[in-house]
Amino acid sequence: MKTAATHWIPICKIDDIPILGARRIKKSMGAEVAVFRNAEDEIFAVLDVCPHKGGPLSQGIVFGNSVACPLHNWTIDLGTGCAKAPDEGCVKRFRVQVNGREVCLDSEELSTPDEQH
Ligand code: FES
Repeated sequence: MKTAATHWIPICKIDDIPILGARRIKKSMGAEVAVFRNAEDEIFAVLDVCPHKGGPLSQGIVFGNSVACPLHNWTIDLGTGCAKAPDEGCVKRFRVQVNGREVCLDSEELSTPDEQH
């Protein structure tokens, strides 16, 4: 079976992302990607669009592996991209690779148009 090698694009250093905050990365089209850093320096990337009403998740506060949407306080699990019950809905996640302190995203995912819901 043939598998295409992932082309990782360096987008920033871990230290460029505020702890418990996010940095926004522009895609070639569609919404931006919110790249989050938690207290353990784990990095997560999701589309910067809340599954509820499109709030900017990048402006939310990170706690544990989750972020609270700044608009109506839904909690999104950054590991799965899904809202915690009783809320329902998921945001698109992006693959992340961290090399040393450098954060990389998959170039193919960055050039893929957003899914329509
Ligand atoms: S838009 Fe995010 S909770 Fe409503």
